[in-house]
Amino acid sequence: MRAVRYHEYGGGDVLGVDEVDRPSPDADEVLVEMRAASVNPVDVMFRSGEYGDVPLPSIPGGDGAGVVAEVGEGVERFAVGDRVFASGMDRAEGGTCAEYAAITETKLAHLPEDVSFEGGAAIANVGATAWTALEEVAGIQAGDRVLIHGGAGGVGHAAVQIASASGAEVIATAGSETARERVRELGADTVLDYDSDTLAEDVLAASDGESVETVLDHRLQAYLELDLEVLTENGQLVCLMGNIPDASGVPFYTKEITVQALRMDNHPVRAPKLRRLVRLMERDELTPVVADTYDFEDIAQAQQDVLVGGYVGKLVVTP
Ligand SMILES: NC(=O)c1ccc[n+]([C@@H]2O[C@H](COP(=O)([O-])OP(=O)(O)OC[C@H]3O[C@@H](n4cnc5c(N)ncnc54)[C@H](OP(=O)(O)O)[C@@H]3O)[C@@H](O)[C@H]2O)c1
Repeated sequence: MRAVRYHEYGGGDVLGVDEVDRPSPDADEVLVEMRAASVNPVDVMFRSGEYGDVPLPSIPGGDGAGVVAEVGEGVERFAVGDRVFASGMDRAEGGTCAEYAAITETKLAHLPEDVSFEGGAAIANVGATAWTALEEVAGIQAGDRVLIHGGAGGVGHAAVQIASASGAEVIATAGSETARERVRELGADTVLDYDSDTLAEDVLAASDGESVETVLDHRLQAYLELDLEVLTENGQLVCLMGNIPDASGVPFYTKEITVQALRMDNHPVRAPKLRRLVRLMERDELTPVVADTYDFEDIAQAQQDVLVGGYVGKLVVTP
């Protein structure tokens, strides 16, 4: 089978398409004929060696969608021919940027018939992440106000829709008028320019001068002080990043705030979260947005573009 691989850490030029053996599923695994995989910023960090413990050669891709080609003897929930999507491949497993991937049953869910493979790939990881952050970690309630930094991004576009479906009032930010308009269409009540010099005031103005109950932040180094300013007493700050910035001098003592960081390594049991995304998609409360699709041969460009941004939703690669 064809698989994207890198044999050493480095820039985009270490990525290539190799002919490799098709994996065989273990007893608890499903062999999926991959039709699409998403491109995540963390793929670039693994490839560059920034998280230097990726076994080489490595196949990138932590999530994706496809059709079941074979099932291990202990697999009960899936059969050959099922349409599925997956999230949570860790750095030591084979990735999803391959024609086939052997995926543990606990990381798979059935993909609704009317969701494309590209859409399934686009929503799997970021949707599960947004769900974890908002529903499990922050426990948002109907009527809460939620600030979502970068609402046009992969996690952001899922988070806007999940928060909106929960009945929260959503304030999001985005970098261009085109993106802001799109994020409004996804359900945000207010979308602000993240480059505004008066962003904290803009957030407070958008919430009638009151504060927000939850903030979802992936750029804590830029927004920690703003987050504390706009959060209410007993508010929740959920962070999607590995590095907690130097917080000396930040006035933490002015309010009771809970700060929680999501683990970067994906949880081995993702299926329950994926099934919740399925229910939202079936109710038309969650629509994956595929910003662009690339061939395997163009994955270096895709991994470059994911860092540049400027699009709404998720970049996807297909065999
Ligand atoms: N388990 C986890 O903890 C977990 C899981 C998934 C992702 N993450 C992390 O979460 C972050 C986002 O991931 P993603 O997949 O959503 O990436 P993404 O698709 O690249 O989205 C990032 C978003 O941030 C926006 N942005 C750029 N500059 C900004 C600024 N100054 N202020 C606010 N927003 C800004 C971008 O907008 P423009 O396009 O306009 O620049 C883009 O919409 C990454 O750091 C990723 O590693 C963590």
